[in-house]
Amino acid sequence: MYPKHLLTGLAALQALLLAAPTTAQDTPGQPASDDWSPAPFTDFTKNILFYPPSTAVNWHTLYARSLQLPDESLLITWENYPLEPPLVNHPIWKSNDGGATWSNYSQIEDQVNGWGMRFQPFLYTLPVEFGGFPAGTILAAGVSCPFSLEGGVWIDLYASTDLAKTWTFISHVAYGAGPETIANGDRALWEPFLILYNNQIVIFYSDQTDPAHSQKLVHRTTDDLVTWSDPVADVAYSRQTDRPGMTTVAHIESTDKWIMTFEYCGAGGCRVHYKVADNPLLFDEVDATELHTNDTSRTTGTSGPYVIWTPHPDRDDGSGLIIISASNREWVFVGEDDADAEGWKRVETGHWSAYSRSLRVVSIKGEKKVLFANGGNFGPGELNSVACAVLPIPR
Ligand SMILES: *[C@@H]1O[C@H](CO)[C@@H](O)[C@H](O)[C@H]1NC(C)=O
Ligand SMILES: *[C@@H]1O[C@H](CO)[C@@H](O)[C@H](O)[C@H]1NC(C)=O
Repeated sequence: MYPKHLLTGLAALQALLLAAPTTAQDTPGQPASDDWSPAPFTDFTKNILFYPPSTAVNWHTLYARSLQLPDESLLITWENYPLEPPLVNHPIWKSNDGGATWSNYSQIEDQVNGWGMRFQPFLYTLPVEFGGFPAGTILAAGVSCPFSLEGGVWIDLYASTDLAKTWTFISHVAYGAGPETIANGDRALWEPFLILYNNQIVIFYSDQTDPAHSQKLVHRTTDDLVTWSDPVADVAYSRQTDRPGMTTVAHIESTDKWIMTFEYCGAGGCRVHYKVADNPLLFDEVDATELHTNDTSRTTGTSGPYVIWTPHPDRDDGSGLIIISASNREWVFVGEDDADAEGWKRVETGHWSAYSRSLRVVSIKGEKKVLFANGGNFGPGELNSVACAVLPIPR
């Protein structure tokens, strides 16, 4: 079974386990916590919305991603690990009350490979008409491969024109021959992330198909959602065994620059790094900076970063804040628009950490908040669940 060899290379993630909360009421995934829901349209933390059945396999849940619909309802999807068959899919749960209560809404099923939608879902709303799809169309990217992890892997793109209720396969984005493991030499693909830039949809992902790199970070572009460019490197180290991973990207609107965060799994563990570029297609041309807090502790973050930018809630000069989550930290790194290496403050959240915990600026009754979506950690699956928080913009 695959988790053993997937975990073998993840020694750096021990840090996550060590960072896991120890008190019973603070353990993500405790079924008892499921009885609790916050009041609608309030700020809250540690709200479990999906507790997987005991028949779930591997990690039960991981890697949650979110979206907000125009009516302010919230969606969360995640990597699910049910007993199969039927084939695994990417479930979508919905909240109509600001994230307080959630229910099953829909799911993104593999319509073409016969393998299931297995890893790393990502949701993106088209802000403009694109490729024949109206503005407001929701795109979903994800990784499809067999349960055995042998026989190939696709990053696939689906679209929904009815607010994420039903889904249609649009295109294959990238192929790897597999197996879908993190072993050096296995031709795997991971972690798609979508943006719109310069009239193109850009998909960033982690790529193990180039023998010169155990893993590198790349992107492809499309004009029509169907035909994709060849991959272009964003982060690739000359040492073959280095493994940069898990791209996320945000637009710093005030300066019109772009920031990408990633984990750099090399000699020094999987510490979070970032790059800032004028053009998100040219990250390869700029050097990376290691992320650390600007207090005397100079604390770093390990693995699974997620970056967002937001206008500053207390200023009206157009400036904003960059917020970065790391898998092993409950708190977040908050910096100014210049992304200065010595400008990252540690800001507490009071919310659980999670592997690749995602962040999204949402509007709750018209007020800007940050939705945190957690799918659990690489610990025992019984401790994992899907949980969320809605908090004022950390600053
Ligand atoms: C969730 O909803 C979808 C769409 O209605 C349905 O196909 C699926 O079976 C439901 N899943 C669960 C776990 O109830
Ligand atoms: C850390 O960075 C913040 C800006 O994000 C700044 O306001 C603060 O003064 C810095 N702290 C130190 C100790 O440099």
